[in-house]
Amino acid sequence: MKGHDTALVDVSDEVLAKSKLAITKSLGRIQEKFSQDPKYGYLEGAEVFMSSALKRLTLTTDMKAFVESADIVIESIVENIDAKKKLFAEVDKVAAPKCIFASNTSSLPIAEIASATNRKDRFGGLHFFNPVPVMRLLEVITTSDLGSGTVSALVQFGEVLGKHCVICKDTPGFIVNRLLMPYLGEAVRMLERGDATAKEIDQAMEMGTGYPMGPFKLADYIGLDIVKLILDGWHKRFPENRIFQPITVLDKLVSTGKLGRKTGEGFYKY
Ligand code: CAA
Repeated sequence: MKGHDTALVDVSDEVLAKSKLAITKSLGRIQEKFSQDPKYGYLEGAEVFMSSALKRLTLTTDMKAFVESADIVIESIVENIDAKKKLFAEVDKVAAPKCIFASNTSSLPIAEIASATNRKDRFGGLHFFNPVPVMRLLEVITTSDLGSGTVSALVQFGEVLGKHCVICKDTPGFIVNRLLMPYLGEAVRMLERGDATAKEIDQAMEMGTGYPMGPFKLADYIGLDIVKLILDGWHKRFPENRIFQPITVLDKLVSTGKLGRKTGEGFYKY
């Protein structure tokens, strides 16, 4: 959307086809706005926007072919530290020395992922928020090894994408998730105690604090498996912290495949 030639690399053509569908749908929503705005030349501008954005995007399973000439590699794979380290060790062998690496991890230590590479000074975190085309925030995560030139480059890149960047240290959950995940967990515990229904808690937080979505709508939107994965990961690292303890209702929903919007049911049915 912002003019960069981009390659989306994934493990199978099947997954890439699904991604292409989601990207086209999302671009379509933005195109819709262009088509109603004289600034973009109505329909003609909208069509140019859509086709040129799609032309700049390559979907591929061949990581090596694109990494060799990339200026930046952003990883957004499964939230598993060993998988991330393994991937970056491979990417590090192929990428040009100047290439900057970033992880979009929500909760894992950036410095530990970076330790799998020989470019710790050019390895930071770029944490985006869902839905990415709409949410303005980008957390830029720094480590003690990161050079100041790389921090500036990451912020500059974020700004070109139209994001507002906040710089934060490599601590569990960074800023947003460190506050958001305990909040979501506390809402589920409130439901578990029978203090109020999910709908009432959502309405209370939407109308009482102005949040666009209450905690249950938001947890369903993020994916209950993701919420559980993040909280469980922290529970393992900080077993004494009560706020990260497993939550029965959440565990039950996840184990029965009710993961939120993406599976058609979570706390709500869709
Ligand atoms: N692609 C493109 N545009 C999109 C879109 C998408 N996927 N989703 C929504 N939009 C656009 C719509 O076209 C619409 O644009 P206009 O206002 O210009 O018409 C606008 O966004 C608002 O969308 P809707 O009218 O459909 O719905 P809404 O007003 O209820 O907003 C929402 C939807 C933006 C998701 C809003 O409910 C919201 O902000 N929710 C909170 C989201 C949030 O907290 N995200 C963070 C999750 S945590 C995370 O991501 C981090 C992690 O690591 C887990």
